Amino acid sequence: MKEGRPVAVETRHLIQVRYSLSTICLSSLLQDALEVLVEYHELTEIEGPRVAYSRAASVLKSLPWTIESMGGTEALPCVGEKTRTLIQEILQYGRSFEVEKILADERYQTLKLFTSVFGVGPKTADKWYRRGLRSFSQILADPDVQLNRMQQNGFLHYTDLSRGLSAAEARAVEAVVGETVRTVAPNARVVLTGGFRRGKEFGHDVDFIVTTAEPGRENSLLPLIMGRLEEQGLLLFQAHHPSTLALKKIPCRRFEAMDYYSKCFLILKLEGSRVQGGGQAVPAGRGWRAVRVDLVAPPIERFAFTQLGWTGSKQFERDLRRFARVERNMLLDNHALFDKNQFLAAVTEKDIFAHLGLEYMEPWQRNA
Ligand code: CTP
Ligand code: MN
Ligand code: MN
Ligand code: MN
Repeated sequence: MKEGRPVAVETRHLIQVRYSLSTICLSSLLQDALEVLVEYHELTEIEGPRVAYSRAASVLKSLPWTIESMGGTEALPCVGEKTRTLIQEILQYGRSFEVEKILADERYQTLKLFTSVFGVGPKTADKWYRRGLRSFSQILADPDVQLNRMQQNGFLHYTDLSRGLSAAEARAVEAVVGETVRTVAPNARVVLTGGFRRGKEFGHDVDFIVTTAEPGRENSLLPLIMGRLEEQGLLLFQAHHPSTLALKKIPCRRFEAMDYYSKCFLILKLEGSRVQGGGQAVPAGRGWRAVRVDLVAPPIERFAFTQLGWTGSKQFERDLRRFARVERNMLLDNHALFDKNQFLAAVTEKDIFAHLGLEYMEPWQRNA
């Protein structure tokens, strides 16, 4: 590390510095290595190291200089002993033996493959791995493996879904969903969220928030929208989770990562003719491809919190919640911001940043 550069150790600065710097100076070797370590602990559901490595990666990404020696790395926040050993290894040998061991590990490779199927999480993947299954054909041929509806569709549309979506395809999906919502609920509002709101060029799905000003109406929106998509022959799969918000006591002490809103996870048919530039990823001769779409329908007064929570990235959400808790003694989640004994109201995301004493951050600045 170059000498004499101040290190932003205060968390308040850290969270803003971390996401606003456009220069990513962490060598790609180190970045890739940390990504593998995070993913490995995610897949094997080991929470401690997963959190530690993702924080370290996030801090290292935000440094406005390239790490050239070990000097000074002990002063970096969130960069622990294990990450420093990793940096040392990479500086010295240009590679990490621990990471290479993981990459060559049969369990890692298999869990990664299995969880790449829509509907298959780390638990199912591990169950299959422990049954001795190593490939999709073995899973599909095993008479004792029961696939749920989501997993069946995950396998059915595997090629399309694993390909991901371009920004042009996301825009085409946005047009289809927008038209559909306007047809069944002209007074409803639909906005893009998730990775494509952050300006990503590539994503694994397209996420939308749908709201209406009529109280209670939000709960009937998603069934109406799915019905209309079905009529148009565009609905390949749907899993609808009705709202459980009313069942929960508010204020709730245990703030959750996910939320209680009405939501649905869909697979839609996207016609190539709808994609500007023809849609390179649409298989020739078929004229359409399958795409993953998520819809969430919060009550209107929860919109700002939903938008902040669903815009992501996941790492940004974790950092922001942690900042609220540790630095402000507040609780932030997809529903609310709770300060000691009261809820702080917000109409827009800007209100939430202001309550937290942070400068507003544009969605594209939240891409960690
Ligand atoms: N999210 C959430 N509750 C859910 C599902 C998602 O709060 N039930 C949040 C996630 O934490 C994330 C955002 O919504 O911050 C978008 O999720 P996702 O679509 O998985 O990730 P993207 O950032 O959009 O990236 P991509 O889809 O391209 O993988
Ligand atoms: Mn997404
Ligand atoms: Mn994702
Ligand atoms: Mn999503």
